[in-house]
Amino acid sequence: MLRPRLTPPRDIFPVDPWGVGAARFDRDLLQAYTGQAETMFALSNGYLGIRGTMDEGQPVEEPGTYLNGFYETRPITYGESAYGFPDTGQSMLVCPDGTPIRLTVDDEIFNLATAEVLEFSRRLDLAKGVLTRNTTWRTQRGRRLTLKTTRLVSLDMKHVAAIHWELVPEDDVDLVISSEIVERAPLPLEDFDPRLAETPEGSILCTTGGSVDGLRAVLGFVTCRSRLALGCAMDHVLETSSPCETVAERKETGAAVTMRIAERAGVPIRLTKFMAYHYGLEDGDDMVAAARASLDKAVARGFPALLARQEENVAQFWAGADVEVEGDPAIQQVIRWNLFQLMQASFRVHGHGIGARGLTGRSYEGHYFWDTEIYVLPFLNYTAPDTARAVLKFRYDMLPQARARARELGHRGATFPWRTINGNEASAYYAAGTAQYHINADIAYALNRYVEVSGDDEFLARYGAEILVETARFWLDLGFFSARREGRFCINAVTGPDEYNAVVDNNYFTNLMAQENLRLAAKAVLTLDKDARAALVERTGLAPEEPAAWSEAADRMYLPYDERLGVHPQDDSFLDKEVWDFENTPEENYPLLLNYHPLNLYRSQVIKQADTLLAMFLMNGHFADAEKKRDFDYYDPITTHDSSLSVCIQSIIASEIGYSRKAFDYFNFAASMDLSDVGGNVKHGAHVASIGGTWMALAYGFAGLRDGSGETRFRPRLPAEWTRLQIPLTIRGRRIRVSIDHEETVYRLEAGDALEIIHEDETVQLTPAVPEARRPTTKMAPDRKAGSGAVDPAEPDDST
Ligand code: BGC
Repeated sequence: MLRPRLTPPRDIFPVDPWGVGAARFDRDLLQAYTGQAETMFALSNGYLGIRGTMDEGQPVEEPGTYLNGFYETRPITYGESAYGFPDTGQSMLVCPDGTPIRLTVDDEIFNLATAEVLEFSRRLDLAKGVLTRNTTWRTQRGRRLTLKTTRLVSLDMKHVAAIHWELVPEDDVDLVISSEIVERAPLPLEDFDPRLAETPEGSILCTTGGSVDGLRAVLGFVTCRSRLALGCAMDHVLETSSPCETVAERKETGAAVTMRIAERAGVPIRLTKFMAYHYGLEDGDDMVAAARASLDKAVARGFPALLARQEENVAQFWAGADVEVEGDPAIQQVIRWNLFQLMQASFRVHGHGIGARGLTGRSYEGHYFWDTEIYVLPFLNYTAPDTARAVLKFRYDMLPQARARARELGHRGATFPWRTINGNEASAYYAAGTAQYHINADIAYALNRYVEVSGDDEFLARYGAEILVETARFWLDLGFFSARREGRFCINAVTGPDEYNAVVDNNYFTNLMAQENLRLAAKAVLTLDKDARAALVERTGLAPEEPAAWSEAADRMYLPYDERLGVHPQDDSFLDKEVWDFENTPEENYPLLLNYHPLNLYRSQVIKQADTLLAMFLMNGHFADAEKKRDFDYYDPITTHDSSLSVCIQSIIASEIGYSRKAFDYFNFAASMDLSDVGGNVKHGAHVASIGGTWMALAYGFAGLRDGSGETRFRPRLPAEWTRLQIPLTIRGRRIRVSIDHEETVYRLEAGDALEIIHEDETVQLTPAVPEARRPTTKMAPDRKAGSGAVDPAEPDDST
């Protein structure tokens, strides 16, 4: 069901350990993959994101400059509304695009779509954190010019992006360089696809002011409804030895600085363009002033200094996050691009959430989902605990809206929105939105894992406990002790992670995760010291009898098991449904959500994404190996993976139960989801959850990492195709590096005090400078040639 659409031709996109890019020009590819390339080459720091559009602003499919949390609201209109349906949608906005630097040579406009290109390369440099492009072309009059550009979105100065542009003409030429910042109306989306953003009608940014001065232009806007003020600005430093005539103009859709130069052959022209973006609820003038101030600072620092800091920041990221794979350079490249995306989505995210596409595209309207807590947090916990804390703190800051939403729905406690930017529920389709109450337990689970891995008990005391209390209250109120089920605690009318089975009773995932949520809340209250507990009581009105009630609901949680099939039913009715007719479903009908009415899906055994299997991974210790295998065998063939959140989880469980071929295939799908455009929609943005899941499949799948019981365990299972896997992990302030080959696993403590880990079932004390090598107790790499058959004779042979 999943097929790579674009396997990049290797002569154009070479294997490169620290870069992704095109080594030569191919006009057909340029045209066919404009949108994909805009995502692949997008730059972001977690606050400011810019799609990888061409420097000239054309050819272009979907230009995008985004600021995390900068959004507009719109009324949601329902054909038939009902009580509690959200009435206000939220959409991440496209900010004025500051990237275009248009070039006219002897009256001919340079556009890659039509130019005669003699040499070309474009590369996202994963080690330096920049996008570079080198182009030599011949004009219609036969003049040759070489243009080299370097673009960065600063990790150091989160409001700033910069482009270094250098042109060397080989002949005397008359040039016009027009550097712009332009507000473009969002392009209408061509396809029917509910996952895409609604295109707002008309202009949503109202101009509040602007000025041009020398080589600088500053613009001020305010959104019409959300009343967010935006200040954006550009400035330039031009180096040329020839006379230059410059004009800066305010235009209806932005501003342009035009430079006219008659340049001599061989003399370079260097232009550095700095851009700054600020937004906030504050006064518009303040945002404009802030943009000016950021520009002043960036110009004073200069491009070389920005570049040097960028490299330092990226190097620091890689020191704690690089996953090295030996034996397959192509997958190494893909893994690094994935990890780089996680860095780009989160580096300066403090005070915001992480959108489903990061800041690489408008799909899903820039909304924050459970994707962050379940798929991205594990990576952040082990590589950037401060960022993990910030992301969880951002959730904490949504508690007032979550409490209000619970009250609106008639419940106690708090219920977090399924999708949101500003903390309010923005999902218009309750069956696959509000009903996904599991997000509450996902947040509780994630914060507990963060505290365990980081040792940040202060976070639990100050913020986490309050989330746990409010979500536990919510679960207790949502479910009930059912007399028909021997007094078991049941939770009805919910949707689990699998959106192809909506509004069901006793979704196994939801019940299991709610049980954990209730237990964590009761435990947190008990373990807090006196002062922290008093503060918690003060903030939540916690009554002494509440924790015992949560524990009781947890202990009596209904978690069914089907004796006949020997599997955990996904929900009460799932196993009674007819299995979807996969055989007669044409390939082009996937994803099914685009081709079948939801009811057709809801009445069948067909799964969009890992659900019970995800529960098995998250609550690993709860299940015996044989149970995992039976559930995998049952659910895997009926899972379409129509969501990108699925295959990474399937890979982890397959690894765990010894289905090494499946584990490897699913891993490759997850890892290449975007670069091979598996879902066919990468042009709308990178799939951040799948990218986080790719790291999870490496760490939890192949390295066999398990946490959650206060211990750090490893049970490595290196794919036969690889010769080594090396992964750094930060655990309670220590950094370890786990290096796995087919003979042994070596654990090195690189920073911090001694640490205890568990290799297979042996406790190992790690001390500084003393690597600990352990051989596998069972042979890890079964006798299997790369890409060949199954390992476990029982491994099913159907491929996805
Ligand atoms: C998935 C959800 C996910 C959302 C955003 C949907 O297709 O079913 O689980 O949260 O995409 O990534």
